[in-house]
Amino acid sequence: MSGLLDGKTALVMGVANRWSIAWAIAQAFSREGARLVFTFQGERQEKDVRELAGTLPHSVILPCDVARDEELAGLAKSIETQGLTLDALVHSIAFANRDDLGGAYVETSRAGFALALDVSAFSLVAAARHLLPVLKPGAAVVTLTYIGSSRVMPNYNVMGVAKAALESSVRYLASDLGPRGIRVNAISAGPIKTASARAIQGFSRILDVMEERAPLRRNTDPAEVADAAVFLCSPLSRGVTGEVLFVDNGFHAMGL
Ligand SMILES: NC(=O)c1ccc[n+]([C@@H]2O[C@H](COP(=O)([O-])OP(=O)(O)OC[C@H]3O[C@@H](n4cnc5c(N)ncnc54)[C@H](O)[C@@H]3O)[C@@H](O)[C@H]2O)c1
Repeated sequence: MSGLLDGKTALVMGVANRWSIAWAIAQAFSREGARLVFTFQGERQEKDVRELAGTLPHSVILPCDVARDEELAGLAKSIETQGLTLDALVHSIAFANRDDLGGAYVETSRAGFALALDVSAFSLVAAARHLLPVLKPGAAVVTLTYIGSSRVMPNYNVMGVAKAALESSVRYLASDLGPRGIRVNAISAGPIKTASARAIQGFSRILDVMEERAPLRRNTDPAEVADAAVFLCSPLSRGVTGEVLFVDNGFHAMGL
C-alpha cells in the first residue's frame, strides 16, 4: 500500500512520552511510510524515547537540548555523518517555568520570559538554521502552537506570548526558506492532556469548555493533529507555507 510520505525521512523533536503530540505525529508519519529520526532532551528522557522509537522500523535516536547551540550543531552533524537528509522537520517543543503558567501575567520575571521565549520560539529559528544543510529542497517544517498566541487564555500567560513569537517566526522563516523550496507552517492544536499541558493551572477546566463550545463538541484527539501534520509534510500541501492551521474542532471560529 502506498503512503503519503513513502521514502521520506522526518526528524521529530519533542517526544517525551506516549502522550506527547510528537509521538502521535511520529506514528502517523510511520504509517504513511516515513522513516523517523527522534531527538530526546537529556539522559532522563533517553530510555523512554528509545523504547517508543524502537516500535517503529528503522528509527534513529539522537540527543538534542534545543537551548544549546552546540547540541543543535551536533544533531545536524550526526544526521549528516549517518548519510541522512531530511524531508520534514517537526518541532513540538515548549517550556516555561510552572510559576509563570498561573496567576497574573504582569508578575512574569525577566528570566522566566527569556526562558519561555528561548525554548518555545527561538528554538524553531535555531533548529531551522542548524539543520538547513540537511534539509532537502522541497522539505517541510511544522511546529505546534496554541490559540493563546492571539487570545487571552486563563493561566497560559508567557506561553501565549511565546506562541505569538513562534507564529510570527513561521511567517518570516517561510519567507526566508521559500526560495529553497522549503515550506514552514504551524498547527494550532486544541488542548490535549500531555505533560506540558498539566503544568498550566486549571487545565482540566479548559478541556470542559472545549467540549461545551467547540463546533464539533469534543476535545482534540492527538491523532487528528498528527494527520494534519502528515498533510503539511506531504505533497498535498505543496502550495501552503507561512500558515497557521487550526486543528481544534472549530473552537477558534467561535465568538461567544
Ligand atoms: N497539549 C496541548 O494542549 C497543546 C496545544 C497546542 C499546542 N501544544 C504544543 O505542542 C507542543 C508539544 O507539547 P505536548 O503537549 O506534546 O507536551 P510534551 O510535554 O509531551 O512535549 C513537550 C516537549 O518539549 C520538549 N522540550 C522542552 N524543553 C526542551 C529543550 N530545551 N530541548 C529539547 N526539548 C525540549 C520536552 O522534552 C517534550 O518532549 C508544544 O509546543 C506545545 O506548546 C500543546
